[in-house]
Amino acid sequence: MESKHDLITLPNGKTIKGIIMIENINLCPYVTLEWIIIETGLFIKNTFVESVDKKRFETINPSTGKVITNVAEASSKDVDLAVEAATEAFYNVWRFVDGKERGRLLNKLADLIERDLEELAALESFDNGQTLSTAKFIDVGKFAYTRHEPIGVCAAIIPWNFPILMQSWKMAPALACGNTIILKPSELTPLGALKIAALCKEAGFPEGVVNVLNGPGPITGAAIAMHMKIDKLSFTGSNATGRSLLKAASESNLKQVSLELGGKSPNIIFADSNLDQAIKWAHMGIFFNHGQCCTAGSRVYVQDSVYDEFLTKFKAFTESNKIGDPFEEDTYQGPQISQTQFDRIMRYIECGKEEGATLLTGGERHGDQGYFIKPTIFTDVNEKMTIMQEEIFGPVVAISKFSTVEEVIEKAHLTKFGLAAAVFTNDLTKAIKLSNELRAGTVWVNCYNLVNSRLPFGGYKESGTGRDLSKYALDQYTQIKTVQINLESHT
Ligand SMILES: *[C@@H]1O[C@H](CO)[C@@H](O)[C@H](O)[C@H]1NC(C)=O
Repeated sequence: MESKHDLITLPNGKTIKGIIMIENINLCPYVTLEWIIIETGLFIKNTFVESVDKKRFETINPSTGKVITNVAEASSKDVDLAVEAATEAFYNVWRFVDGKERGRLLNKLADLIERDLEELAALESFDNGQTLSTAKFIDVGKFAYTRHEPIGVCAAIIPWNFPILMQSWKMAPALACGNTIILKPSELTPLGALKIAALCKEAGFPEGVVNVLNGPGPITGAAIAMHMKIDKLSFTGSNATGRSLLKAASESNLKQVSLELGGKSPNIIFADSNLDQAIKWAHMGIFFNHGQCCTAGSRVYVQDSVYDEFLTKFKAFTESNKIGDPFEEDTYQGPQISQTQFDRIMRYIECGKEEGATLLTGGERHGDQGYFIKPTIFTDVNEKMTIMQEEIFGPVVAISKFSTVEEVIEKAHLTKFGLAAAVFTNDLTKAIKLSNELRAGTVWVNCYNLVNSRLPFGGYKESGTGRDLSKYALDQYTQIKTVQINLESHT
């Protein structure tokens, strides 16, 4: 019924490599074609090519058990080439193509599919054994609707940096959508969730709707992640823990997982900004909550012409803020959460010095008890340094210089994270262009660290998946059901 050709001559005399010709298709009543011609290479950059290793594999007609033809087989090298092509096309071409033009191309493709419908249907029949009448099936009118339903039992693993706030980000949408919830607070901050639990009972939530389990991550957290009857897991915390939760979900019941895993956010300050305002926000951006914010603006890029002035004023402002007892009204900076975090931050500070950054201020313990660290500023940094790549989660900022927009965008993107970014400028066009360009879940313009429950919050790249807050959070706690009803009794 079909024959194999590696090289065939087309009716116009042209010879093409890697082509299949299927003859006698008109044995089939629906199809009038005499042959189907398709190229069998890999399709990369609009070209059919052999794979790098020149490997091919056969495809079988399930009706006869015979080989139809062979097609090029992609190895990791070919995957790299295709990803490179798709990346280039994404960043430099397709996302800039107007929606109208994208629509025109999709419609054009639909027209071509209709034009070649018989050929396509026949190919499906040869390749997969689908009957031609199915392959050409055109749907008749039905009544259909979708339902947004709760997912079921949701779990939330909450970080220690804003314990009650983070609990509300996850618990409120989960309950509002009709799910029940199991909360596991950080073992460093077990108390807030217990108080909220008592309030849930007092408010009259039925039993079992809200549950709180305290315990260590490797025990309680791991048991939650591996559980076969938890349908959804939402996590805010470290990259390493996020990965292990995702792995556990894949090894248990494929529970849905949404993750927010921190950042290394760039804060870009242009010479045409209001510099005193920029200094105030940049300071808050990194030192708010003692640097223990996922969104911390830990990489500050200042345009060269105002760099010296920025540095002098930023240093003076930083050193003027009071460190100490969090209960005292005029305290700006309290202690870090734990000895472990204190040690971790101090190790990063040592690492910054070893890798050649200049310590402008801070870099040491404050006082002789508790986990206080003086606000720390590094300069003379580059993107290869550990303190420019890893999330420190403490009062440590790295400040560097740039001259052009292109340069700062490139530097800003030299990170695996993509949670937040900020731009300071009084040039509206520049602000909007940069906000569009920066690969981050939140971009602030002339401000920093503002979070609003009506606005979605979450990360690009390795900063995570999914969004907390706003109506988008409701998507994280619902699943969608499609219902189709046949209204015709005779079909
Ligand atoms: C997250 O952890 C993985 C595995 O340890 C590591 O390769 C990656 O660089 C980390 N990502 C970030 C953004 O730090």
